[in-house]
Amino acid sequence: MNDARILDRPAALDVAAIRAQFPILREQVRGKPLVFLDSAASAQKPRAVIEAMVHAMEHQYANIHRGLHWMSERTTEAYEAARDAAQALLGAKEREEIVFVRNTTEGINLLAHSYGRAVLKPGDAVLISAMEHHSNIVPWQMLRDSHGIELRIAPVTDAGELDMEAFATLLDDGRVKLVAITHMSNVLGTYTPVERIVALAHEAGAKVMLDGSQAVVHRKVDVQALGCDFYVFTGHKLYGPTGIGVLWGRRELLEAMPPFLGGGDMISTVSFERSEWAKVPHKFEAGTPAILEGVGLKAAIDWTVALGWDRVAAHEQALTDHALARLSEIEGVRVLGQAQDRGGVVSFTLDGVHAHDVATILDRQGIAVRAGQHCAEPLMRRFGLDSTARASFAAYTTMAEIDYLAEQLARVRAFFR
Ligand code: ALA
Repeated sequence: MNDARILDRPAALDVAAIRAQFPILREQVRGKPLVFLDSAASAQKPRAVIEAMVHAMEHQYANIHRGLHWMSERTTEAYEAARDAAQALLGAKEREEIVFVRNTTEGINLLAHSYGRAVLKPGDAVLISAMEHHSNIVPWQMLRDSHGIELRIAPVTDAGELDMEAFATLLDDGRVKLVAITHMSNVLGTYTPVERIVALAHEAGAKVMLDGSQAVVHRKVDVQALGCDFYVFTGHKLYGPTGIGVLWGRRELLEAMPPFLGGGDMISTVSFERSEWAKVPHKFEAGTPAILEGVGLKAAIDWTVALGWDRVAAHEQALTDHALARLSEIEGVRVLGQAQDRGGVVSFTLDGVHAHDVATILDRQGIAVRAGQHCAEPLMRRFGLDSTARASFAAYTTMAEIDYLAEQLARVRAFFR
């Protein structure tokens, strides 16, 4: 190998040092080491996140945005620092473009409720894909039923990629005003070709929202480079706490949107006759927010970014390649999706054994995988399945864990033969 290739390659993640920062990874499951391969559902938390939240509770806690007292001001600063961190994470132009929500689901509901009702008109269409999570299907169905929006579905190929020809055709009549699509499938691991999606959508006069729940964990996301108009993600998959996520939107779009929830903190004045809204992003953030979770999210973003995106991406690519190679050696294992561009999520079936049984038997050996429909029932149906088992990886996942998964799967196979 020549020097240039060596220099090109990012230094590998120090996975042992990373694992040492996750107290839970030392846990045993029925006397066996925990092999946690369910990070796509929710990632484990590093000490940095745990300690930031504990520190806030012990030293720096009061309600925010309201008090004039010292403790409230300090807590407000700590919480608002999460907005700066999220702005930097996504490459947003302004911190005011970062709206805190409870999770991706709430972010998409906010968009469907507010943008969907105020900006979209009955007869306009929203285009999603056949590989969406329920959180990016159901809110649009609700909008369709209440507001007369047409819901269009771009199909997925047998390889588990977005059918771009069909996607382009669905945009042809100019009635699609919003494309709402996953950046990375939680079932197939497929990355969608965002640059092409955005170019086609914008050419057809549609805005683009990306569901970044999975992608934001594995790759550097730059919303300016992607060219999208909205981006949504949740904190708990990014090594942060539950109960906080982000909806990013271009400022002019957020300005045109009415509030989603009403109450304290989202107003500038209130009388019994009428109320006026606070400026963005606060007009979307009614009530006492997830203060401690904001502190945790900031710590999680800092922790993840410090790993280095190139290293994270290279590690997870190596894990995925290894998992695909090892699973392909086991007779009867069928991996769902063979996308060219895919991340650290591998869904599979084992001939003659229900996915729930696979997961239950693996659990006996200390291995945590998710089994079922993965909140993507239409996608399961597309592939003629009622469930799969799914192994998903994070920065703390090791090659040895994947080897152990493969060994145990081979045992399950032998047992049921
Ligand atoms: N959306 C999460 C998953 O894919 C819960 O498991």
